[in-house]
Amino acid sequence: MVQNYIIWHPTKITKKDRQKLNNHKTCVLWFTGYSGSGKSTLASELDYQLYSSGIRSYVLDGDNVRHGLNKELGFSPADRVENIRRVGEVAKLFVDGGQIVITAFISPYRKDREQVRKLFEEGEFIEVFIECPIEICEKRDPKGLYKKARNGEINNFTGIDSPYEPPIKS
Ligand code: ADX
Repeated sequence: MVQNYIIWHPTKITKKDRQKLNNHKTCVLWFTGYSGSGKSTLASELDYQLYSSGIRSYVLDGDNVRHGLNKELGFSPADRVENIRRVGEVAKLFVDGGQIVITAFISPYRKDREQVRKLFEEGEFIEVFIECPIEICEKRDPKGLYKKARNGEINNFTGIDSPYEPPIKS
């Protein structure tokens, strides 16, 4: 930890004020599951449904966030930990800003998801396991990545040569 002298600056407008303005509570719906399980598709559809009902929501998607904020991160265990840590912090900002956040990240490690949960108030972090067997995800292979992983063109691929830890209770 770098030694610093940074002091939290409270803002005049609080999360409660924004929730009141938007007329709804805020939370994060944390989708987890294999690549190809349907996280992004379901996140996008839910976002559309919420938007259509006048609810302020936003999707944070693994592939998209890795185009910008997390573009230097790969798929080693350490990089995945950092990926999820950053996304947890960003989700917290959105929740503070009055939005319902839907995240679509494999987030393969239970411990990382628990770390993110700790950033939020009770009931604000809702973990959603997009349960789809690896065999089906591999069969779907929407981006052709499973094939590449099987051929040895991609290393550390979740479900092939990198682990996935499902939530313990659903
Ligand atoms: S996570 O494990 O760090 O949570 P994240 O959700 O951000 O992963 O990114 C997963 C997406 O990156 C997959 O949907 C897939 O398109 C792509 N990808 C590229 N390489 C890999 C890999 N080695 N393992 C898993 N997904 C990969």
